[in-house]
Amino acid sequence: MWLYSLIWGSALLSLVDATEVVVVTVATERTEGLKRFLRSAERHGIDVQVYGLDEDWKGGDTRIEQGGGQKIRILRRELEKYADKKDTIILFTDAYDVIWANGLDAVIDRFIDHYSNLRVLFGAEPFCWPKKELAIEYPLVEFGKRFLNSGLFMGYAPEIYRMLSLKEVEDKDDDQLYFTMIYLDEQLRKELKMGLDSISRIFQNLNGVQEDVKLEFDGEGSASVLNTPYNTHPILIHGNGDSKMYLNYLSNYVGEWNVENGCVRCEERRKMEIEDEAAEESSGLPTLSLAVFVSSTPFLEEVLKALSAQDYPKSKIHLFIYNSQPFHLETVSKWAESQKGEFISRTIINVDMETGEREARQMTLESMVTRGSEYLFIINGDIYLQREEALRELVKKSLFYDTSILSPILNQPGKLFSNFWGAIAENGFYARSEDYIDIVNGNRIGLWNVPFVSSPLLIKGELVKEIAPTRPFHYSKDLDPDMSFALYARHKGHFLHVTNEDTDGFLVVSEEFVDDLQKGRLHTEMWQIFANRWLWEQRYLHEDYVKILNGPVEEVPMPCTDVYDYALLSPRFCAELIEEMEHFGEWSDGSNSDRRLAGGYENVPTRDIHMNQVGFEREWLFFIDEYVRPMQEKIFVGYFKKPIESHMMFVVRYKPEEQSSLRPHHDASTFSIDIALNQRGVDFEGGGVRYVRYNCTVPADEVGHTMMFPGRLTHLHEGLPTTKGTRYILVSFINP
Ligand SMILES: *[C@@H]1O[C@H](CO)[C@@H](O)[C@H](O)[C@H]1NC(C)=O
Repeated sequence: MWLYSLIWGSALLSLVDATEVVVVTVATERTEGLKRFLRSAERHGIDVQVYGLDEDWKGGDTRIEQGGGQKIRILRRELEKYADKKDTIILFTDAYDVIWANGLDAVIDRFIDHYSNLRVLFGAEPFCWPKKELAIEYPLVEFGKRFLNSGLFMGYAPEIYRMLSLKEVEDKDDDQLYFTMIYLDEQLRKELKMGLDSISRIFQNLNGVQEDVKLEFDGEGSASVLNTPYNTHPILIHGNGDSKMYLNYLSNYVGEWNVENGCVRCEERRKMEIEDEAAEESSGLPTLSLAVFVSSTPFLEEVLKALSAQDYPKSKIHLFIYNSQPFHLETVSKWAESQKGEFISRTIINVDMETGEREARQMTLESMVTRGSEYLFIINGDIYLQREEALRELVKKSLFYDTSILSPILNQPGKLFSNFWGAIAENGFYARSEDYIDIVNGNRIGLWNVPFVSSPLLIKGELVKEIAPTRPFHYSKDLDPDMSFALYARHKGHFLHVTNEDTDGFLVVSEEFVDDLQKGRLHTEMWQIFANRWLWEQRYLHEDYVKILNGPVEEVPMPCTDVYDYALLSPRFCAELIEEMEHFGEWSDGSNSDRRLAGGYENVPTRDIHMNQVGFEREWLFFIDEYVRPMQEKIFVGYFKKPIESHMMFVVRYKPEEQSSLRPHHDASTFSIDIALNQRGVDFEGGGVRYVRYNCTVPADEVGHTMMFPGRLTHLHEGLPTTKGTRYILVSFINP
């Protein structure tokens, strides 16, 4: 209880001297909304009496139907003790969808300043609810909203108690209708001195006026709420009706986020962690059900590898994999095999078991309950968790923030596309919130209550237990399972929190991959250099390349005059390119006539396949421009041409029984690259390139290394005979 001693103008002193204010609410469940409400009260030093906790709620689902009479009955019971206290002010607020934007001092100041003629004050709203036809009976207001909302009210204890006890009310009756009928009775209205806070000096009901109510930052960077038409800064903000999402948005800032200092709770958590280093002990981490959902996404190998590299004890994890793609079968089973025995348990569901994704997601909930894990972590196959501490830190955040559902914000590298939505349009799909770009770009860092997040989801075990029987992924069969889950959470008042305090990883881009899969290639990821460049580099760029590029030019080997030789592509790229070429199979016949060329004539023919024949021209040009050109500029100083051009890019096949060598020739290029794709002594014997003018031979047998040399005039060269097996090289004539 809070004692309000007013130091005030003497004229008013008698009115409010030592006025006692009792803040009350009714809540039968300890929902996240209630916790948020109490936290926001605490931030303003307000003590709240919570009535009805853990009683059975019989007042109906007030989200979708009328109800709430039970609220009145509980209040009547609890407030009886104040019935005679004429100097006591009772302030009632709903519990699950209300936050404080200011403290009690401000409430009392304004109540006394503006409503000294009243004994009971209700919040107002633009809708006459629940009985529209009562609208005409409402007294007119000069300015502001005309209709009563029962989620927020205050007044002197005797009048409040009398109002609560005037009529019989059933648990299932509508509480707003109860108060409305009293207010509309002119006699009672006058006796009780009832009025409405029509211009939101104290009470802001958000439904229907979201456009009018804005977030505002003061000179110190603190967030407050501004009602723009009335130019008021309301104190209690109520997300009634359809405005819950908007309240969630406001509640991310009001009392929780500051322009200067950022996220208040994040700071509290960091301080706590510094003090409590014992929390670092991994033995203290909760048990986890880890559910991986694999669909058509590239670089699954890397994704799974990053997952097993997570710094979370596998002895605390039950693993569950659902794979909907036959072509991922091998990757998934290989990975699962490599992890054998490390997890507490493993369940793998492949497509052939004909379990729909929605059903499989439901199964993860149920099996988590059976296994009794403390947390469920659901992650899709397009989530690359780069930071090894990601999962462990997320669990610790969830424990500290006491979230039911928490996700790290992840986006496609360099793009605004992410795994959450800041707002939802009326059609139920994506809408961009005011703060979306700032959050995705990391200009605003914190913990955000949002209307949708797809994956990953860290869900508290207690919540899973509660919701599993009601099948949240089946909640709306018209929506994708993740959207269905989010809709369910919104309707049931479970908050979806996301955090961008750390950069935990990114989203793998899958859109192009799905199309590329139709093209019958063996190694679709090779074509992913645009969509998923970082992952492409991890897989296909030679591991020594960056070191050579950034090192001194003297360290680039030069086996013959002006012939440089350096690591460019990974052995895996080379092997997969050979497989793609053989899979395509249309090698040229080695004659002078070549329909693929503009003139139809090839002076120095080889057995080859051009990059454009396998649809790899655009990708390969980009590769040369991004990875070869910088080496050229470093070595052959002063020559600059961007982007590079190349019309001759091809893989050559040498074998004794077909074409084993190539006579001396000049390339039609400013410079050329010639990349060894396979291994002498393993795949072939012989080979190598001899530069005639210098009588110098390069063995050219390090897989993935390229020779780079001037094309015309100086570097007449010949391909030496391959004597056994098959030798493959990748050649490009650059800047013809
Ligand atoms: C070319 O080099 C080879 C091997 O190093 C040597 O045997 C040969 O005599 C050289 N030829 C000329 C014309 O210098």
